[in-house]
Amino acid sequence: MSQVFHEIEKKIITSLRDNPKQTPELLEKSTQLSPDQIRRGIEWLKLKDLVIVTESKSTVISLGKNGIESFQKGLPERRLLDLLKTGPKKLSDLQKELGSVFGPSMGLARKNNWVEATSDKFSIKNSPSELPGEKTLKLIGNKKLPVDKLDANDLSGLLKRPDFIIEDVIKSKEITLSDSAKSIKLSNTQGEIDVEAKVPQVFVARTHPLKDTINEIREIFVTLGFSEIFGNMTQSSFWNFDALFTPQDHPARELQDTFYLDKINAKKIGTSEQIRKISESHKKNWRYQWDINEARKMVLRTHTTCVTIKHLAENKSDEARIFSLGRVFRNEKVSYKHLVEFNQIEGVVVGKDANLRNLMGIQREFYKRIGITKIKFWPTFFPYTEPSLQTMVYNEKLGKWIELFGMGIFRPEVTKPLGITKPVLAWGGGIERIAMLKYDLDDVREFYNNNLGWLRSTTKCQ
Ligand code: PHE
Repeated sequence: MSQVFHEIEKKIITSLRDNPKQTPELLEKSTQLSPDQIRRGIEWLKLKDLVIVTESKSTVISLGKNGIESFQKGLPERRLLDLLKTGPKKLSDLQKELGSVFGPSMGLARKNNWVEATSDKFSIKNSPSELPGEKTLKLIGNKKLPVDKLDANDLSGLLKRPDFIIEDVIKSKEITLSDSAKSIKLSNTQGEIDVEAKVPQVFVARTHPLKDTINEIREIFVTLGFSEIFGNMTQSSFWNFDALFTPQDHPARELQDTFYLDKINAKKIGTSEQIRKISESHKKNWRYQWDINEARKMVLRTHTTCVTIKHLAENKSDEARIFSLGRVFRNEKVSYKHLVEFNQIEGVVVGKDANLRNLMGIQREFYKRIGITKIKFWPTFFPYTEPSLQTMVYNEKLGKWIELFGMGIFRPEVTKPLGITKPVLAWGGGIERIAMLKYDLDDVREFYNNNLGWLRSTTKCQ
């Protein structure tokens, strides 16, 4: 794996290979880069775990006011000894010469036996060539020196004297290479583009894969010449069930299958003619007492077929190609292939020659466009279509045939009461199931898990 480095990074790494521990200031000198370039380079390399930055504190020593005076004139005790070099001196003369430093210098000299007092004069007794502190004082002079460059013992005496020594604590950074940086190859590809270079992954905002599937389906229908129709998510039972010839005691209408809006009933469910004709159709064909109050109950739509039938009843077209897309709701146990809330696609063709062959042909065309070719048609039952079929499609990931779209030709018991005279082909099914195939999933819940890892890794174009 080759990594591409910025010139700044290369210079810093190279310099640290020659001289493994450097402060930023030293790096500036050794690389000829600006302070700002060094600072940025160190930040980049730190993020890549290639350099280690350790912060340390150190003490720097310089001379204070009295220290400087002693550096220039000598320590007070040195001045005292110098005065005595030419011979014994009287106390009063020494006091006059040395002024305020006489007391302390004499105290020190007596204590160390450097001078002795004879009758009324002082003279040198045993003076060393270099006094404690003298070496350090000379070394510091007018400079600032790190404390570890000095003899701690020699310094300690000076530290006790007032205004002699100034100690400054300074913080400094030290840069070293990490272990992984040591084995890195710095290619000499200056000015060339390394097309295989690793780049950071950038996750920009994107549409949800399910939304992409919905849009793709919409696109297919539109290119096939269909127009989109829209409907409400809440519907009266009349349009969701009754108009679709679903008897009022049908199991699908029970609470354990359908979500009802608690205590909300529709006031106007349809025209009086629609209500009369549909109720007659139920009474005559299913033979039971149709109850308008049952039809008034509001539900979260269980399929998009309610949108279809309402549209057909309102338009009574002799020819139509329409589709709708939207959320539907079912009181079902959630599983790898069931959700309580999911999206459906519904397609409708009205025309005097519309027949089952056309219906199956349209299905094949639709599936082909979405990329599904392994399909079968099975006979099935819906209260509103005759014949009724369902498409089964092979899910490779599950290793199973799963049910995809339900379809059929609307029964006359559905179309006649609403004044629809031409044959109606209709089909519909879950979009999540199509998306599962598209994205090779074995669990439909993945679409709603908000799993960022999956969402980011799912490619836009399959
Ligand atoms: N409404 C059916 C379902 O939700 C699908 C269907 C639509 C069946 C149109 C026949 C005709 O499963």
